[in-house]
Amino acid sequence: MQRLEIEGKHILEGEVRISGAKNSAVALIPASVLSDGIVTISNVPNITDRDALNEILEYLNADVKIEDETMVIDSTNIENKEIPESISKKLRASYYFMGALLGKYKKVNMYFPGGCKIGARPINLHLKGFEALGAIVTERENQYIIEADELIGNNIYLDIASVGATINIMLAAVKAKGTTIIENAAKEPEVVNVAMFLNNMGARIIGAGTSEIKIIGVSKLEGCSHEVIPDRIEAGTYMIAASLMGNNVKISNVIPEHLDALLLKLKEIGIKIEVGNDYFIISKSDNMKSVNIKTLPYPGFPTDLQQPITTLLTQCEGSSKVEETIYENRFLNVDYLNKMGSNIKTKDKEAIVYGVTPLKGCEVIATDLRAGACLVLAALIAEGKTTIHNIDHILRGYEGIVEKLNGLGAKIKIV
Ligand code: EPU
Repeated sequence: MQRLEIEGKHILEGEVRISGAKNSAVALIPASVLSDGIVTISNVPNITDRDALNEILEYLNADVKIEDETMVIDSTNIENKEIPESISKKLRASYYFMGALLGKYKKVNMYFPGGCKIGARPINLHLKGFEALGAIVTERENQYIIEADELIGNNIYLDIASVGATINIMLAAVKAKGTTIIENAAKEPEVVNVAMFLNNMGARIIGAGTSEIKIIGVSKLEGCSHEVIPDRIEAGTYMIAASLMGNNVKISNVIPEHLDALLLKLKEIGIKIEVGNDYFIISKSDNMKSVNIKTLPYPGFPTDLQQPITTLLTQCEGSSKVEETIYENRFLNVDYLNKMGSNIKTKDKEAIVYGVTPLKGCEVIATDLRAGACLVLAALIAEGKTTIHNIDHILRGYEGIVEKLNGLGAKIKIV
């Protein structure tokens, strides 16, 4: 099993370029099967989640070429067969094949997706959406067979503004007859990126990025070229790293507006940030003040940065309250942070972080992707060496994390 070894207390300097967004790419890749032509997706991050989706595409007989960060996908000869559990469970986003294959072939047969164990994460809203479009869902243990004679547009209200359900329903509805309206839709930039991709193919989606999305069904989707947006969560992780150990670290290839919630919190903490058109320059600050964080759907504070920012809060004077409202189980990082020397108490969906606490390197485990990021950040400021186990989680979502951090002056290696 691979592990990360990190020697702490090295100043970070220089520039880091942010990759394409994982949570956008993992929807764009399955969405490509809807096209009747060839699609080219650029700025795809080189992460293991990309490889897992590629495995599904190739299993379905799509012709895929990957060169650097560009994927060229030809789905003309796809065979719409059952997707086995061994590949569907490698990641959560395999569920986007449900909407995409249903939308194209009116039938999909696959097993329940995998992903980080950060809560129950049901997919009831995805399935309700498919049913509203006229599909029949048959569930056998963790296998789903979803089929329809015809998909017909409908009005769908989401009880929760779910990113996954919003995207999956868009995928299923683009070729449906008539108009679909998703109310209380998720507004995340990744939803917009997917809608733009589908519109580039010839779909008619209006309102992505607002809470009401209108999808006017079309009969044919062409090939197209499309670019993955920069990863706001990867950017946020490096912004926090620079706030902890940086000396004028430049974080480039970002869309600053996507990070407004984090920017406001960093400023409240006392970090000085230069905001450029597509970059930030950040240095560490000596007097950081505690702040309260409450995770919310976009444009609120992203749950995916809740664990990473907790590391920064351990270095802020006073007590900070962290409230997690999206997932039930996203404090698994806390035990390991406390093992490193922090003083964090959790109760239900709240954590109180008492600062300032010096951290010391030790052996820790990445229980999920962002918990792993939180521990990498902790290791950067810890005295001595930290060994992080279970790093497959981290490699699923952060492109070249070792090279990028070493490029900034950190001492980190995969063993
Ligand atoms: N939910 C339901 N029923 C559903 C769908 C969602 O109850 O049918 C609940 C979930 O259990 C959760 C909440 O709604 O409590 C929000 O879930 P959402 O569907 O928005 O999340 P997701 O689509 O499963 C994506 C990202 C997550 C990110 C969330 C929120 C992907 C592959 N995953 O998940 O990313 O936290 O949106 O922004 O896009 C990560 O990158 O570390 C990660 C977990």
